[in-house]
Amino acid sequence: MDPRITIIKDRLSSVKRIIAVASGKGGVGKSMVSTGLALLLSKKNHKCGLLDLDFHGPSCHIILGVDKLELIEEKGIIPPTINGIKFMSIVHFAEEKPVAIRGKEVSNALIELLAITRWGNLDYLIIDLPPGMSDEALDIMRLIKNQEFLIVTTPSKLSMGVVEKLIKFLKSMNANITGIIENMVMTESNIVEEFARKNKVRYLGKILYDSELESCIGSIECLLKTKFIQNLLEILEYMKSLSC
Ligand SMILES: Nc1ncnc2c1ncn2[C@@H]1O[C@H](COP(=O)(O)OP(=O)(O)O)[C@@H](O)[C@H]1O
Ligand SMILES: [Mg+2]
Repeated sequence: MDPRITIIKDRLSSVKRIIAVASGKGGVGKSMVSTGLALLLSKKNHKCGLLDLDFHGPSCHIILGVDKLELIEEKGIIPPTINGIKFMSIVHFAEEKPVAIRGKEVSNALIELLAITRWGNLDYLIIDLPPGMSDEALDIMRLIKNQEFLIVTTPSKLSMGVVEKLIKFLKSMNANITGIIENMVMTESNIVEEFARKNKVRYLGKILYDSELESCIGSIECLLKTKFIQNLLEILEYMKSLSC
């Protein structure tokens, strides 16, 4: 028995809602959705944390426009605060070097990160996951019992095909699925709504393709004014109205 597992439970004991953003596919907008949700929640004065668990492709720091951050060590690590968000990522430790770890090493790094981070009281902890049923996703299912999964897909058969597998897997593990967000919508269609109905998962709403989004990456002020964030806000309001 790894003693860090008990510590992790303790570290997360004052976090009210843990939302892991997942998808079968890469490039569908998980990191944008995770970071956007954290920005919106903190803007609405909720105590919010953001944990970037995509060890091989961490992106939340790029979206937020933060460089190397000062970590405060005090009986663990107190995550740096960006725009009111307590932000934790492997990049705080790995700098810009690629993180060449796999399998057991990923698990070990993840356990260590969760065991050292002092989140304190949070209303929400948003976790940005890598694509698919990665080591990170499997580990957080094992280590964190009360989290919800928020699934992101684009209205493409390629994305929905792998998302369907992820949903089946999450259901087989009795995981709590909040619902599906449809991202990068370019044409009118109800294909993802039907997909959600077929898979018995709640459809949470759509985010339109926003051609201005790319130019706002790295600037929180600019991001908060995008159509992407406006669409996400509507989804967040709906999510908050659901009792999970
Ligand atoms: N609704 C959207 N409109 C336009 N571009 C988007 C939208 N959502 C995400 N993107 C862009 O798509 C790319 C992939 O997004 P990202 O969040 O990194 O995906 P993932 O984390 O799933 O790999 C990024 O360049 C991001 O800016
Ligand atoms: Mg990502």
